[in-house]
Amino acid sequence: MIVYKTEAEIAAMAASGRIVGLILDELGDLVRPGVRTIDIDAHAERRTRELGAKPAFKDYRGYPASVCVSVNEEVIHGIPSDRALHEGDLVSLDFGVLYEGFYGDAARSFPVGRVTPLAERLIAIAEASFRSGIEAMIEGGRVSDISHAVQGRVEAEGFSVIRSFVGHGIGHALHEEPQVPNFGLPGRGPRLRRGLVLAVEPMIAAGDWDVEVLDDGWTAVTRDRSLAAHFEETVALTAAGPVILTRPDAPVPAPRAKEQAHA
Ligand code: MF3
Ligand code: CO
Repeated sequence: MIVYKTEAEIAAMAASGRIVGLILDELGDLVRPGVRTIDIDAHAERRTRELGAKPAFKDYRGYPASVCVSVNEEVIHGIPSDRALHEGDLVSLDFGVLYEGFYGDAARSFPVGRVTPLAERLIAIAEASFRSGIEAMIEGGRVSDISHAVQGRVEAEGFSVIRSFVGHGIGHALHEEPQVPNFGLPGRGPRLRRGLVLAVEPMIAAGDWDVEVLDDGWTAVTRDRSLAAHFEETVALTAAGPVILTRPDAPVPAPRAKEQAHA
């Protein structure tokens, strides 16, 4: 069942999303050679609590940390440790919170110091493919229109989209229906309606799309060990089109007159 959100609920989700966006920006500022991945996690957890929120991932299905920190060939779900980042690494940070009953979820990839042109391009295309995806998030369309747009943008660069992990609906639960794959034919799946809130999250690889999970039970790596990148935002489909909620300055969509009358 898809849970469509009212404009008031989307405004509440923007409050959660702003916390995610703010903290993720701070985490990005910590990324440099020498920083340990647990230092990034510690900052995220401390700031989350300071802002009155709860880390969304900690203890989710037994996940042990507040942030997923995935380095180079690690695609997602890397577990923070005393591993230090090195010049030339590509690091993906995936972070979410629960605030006043609503989840926000976002991810970004960052270069550690100077990186190869390939790493720079992979990071840029992860974000660009997300943009292409939400440009297809139009009322009356279908969920797979997003999937198809993401895939097209990624494959046009000669990169591949990871197929065994998907984006998702989000709200009172971290993972709601529908699933949002990053590949597929357009015109399939649930209709895109006002009030739909999705975590759209392309995960892409410089090589093949096949992944395997390491012995820690979490870390997903590309099977060919090629470089991977991840970009995710929580996005609401409103009367004004798609609105990104996981930014420090996420707008509060104005309630419609009808809802105001009931307020
Ligand atoms: N952003 C990730 C997702 O949408 C959250 C990871 S969940 C956890 O699936 F298991 F790592 F906590
Ligand atoms: Co997600």
